[in-house]
Amino acid sequence: MSEAVLTLKGLYKRFGALEVTRDVSLDLRPGEIHALIGPNGAGKSTLIAQIAGALSPDAGQIHLGKRDITGLSVAHRARLGLGRSFQVSSLAEPLSVIRNVMIGVQAMAGHSFHFWTPIDRDERLLVPARAVLGRMQLDHRADTPVAELSHGERRQVEVACALALEPKALLLDEPMAGLGPEGTAHLTDLLETLKREVPILLIEHDMDAVFRLADRLSVLVAGSVIAHGDGDTIRRDPRVRDAYLGD
Ligand SMILES: Nc1ncnc2c1ncn2[C@@H]1O[C@H](COP(=O)(O)OP(=O)(O)O)[C@@H](O)[C@H]1O
Ligand SMILES: [Mg+2]
Repeated sequence: MSEAVLTLKGLYKRFGALEVTRDVSLDLRPGEIHALIGPNGAGKSTLIAQIAGALSPDAGQIHLGKRDITGLSVAHRARLGLGRSFQVSSLAEPLSVIRNVMIGVQAMAGHSFHFWTPIDRDERLLVPARAVLGRMQLDHRADTPVAELSHGERRQVEVACALALEPKALLLDEPMAGLGPEGTAHLTDLLETLKREVPILLIEHDMDAVFRLADRLSVLVAGSVIAHGDGDTIRRDPRVRDAYLGD
């Protein structure tokens, strides 16, 4: 069995009287999409926040590869290879698509970068940024300002910006939200290809997309993982049907 890229062990988190994460353990393996599904308020986004480092768990550990990252900052985790896209867009609207991705590449290169070339023409930023745009099928939009993009294209740029940081694992929180059927189908295709390079922990409400994409699923209800398995196992599980999928 291949080694997990990301491992959560016995995570707990409470907000006052509300236990939002109860003994959550799961892992993400190379080449897979692991979907985290569950009703609104189940604790999916707060779990992602704990993995990304925006929230500290009260107990438990998070490992990226073999490294314990539980106590590290958001920025430190990102540098170690934890990528995420945000539910609220963090793109610079007036700037071109390629420029947005170059900012990500630049952040990755960090303080070792020296600016003796104007950023727009710096091949060390342009070459990797173009490569990432190609992976997200956005080459033709490279010079378009983000403000002119469709909703679906923005989502692609957000994922491209996360990829610019060369993540070892990618966290996506409802990437299909607000996309029409066409946008959802296109992003689904892209993620299906992308997972071979970067394993993805995917939160998504669109169940067609989830069942098409996910190699494994974990179902979160009231902070606890109530079921775990492949698509068929999850679809048949009576507790899952009861708590989430319905009939
Ligand atoms: N900062 C916070 N303080 C208090 N309660 C919070 C906070 N963030 C989220 N919650 C609560 O935690 C629960 C889980 O929220 P969330 O993780 O956003 O659920 P999901 O993403 O599964 O819809 C919800 O009841 C939510 O109201
Ligand atoms: Mg959420």
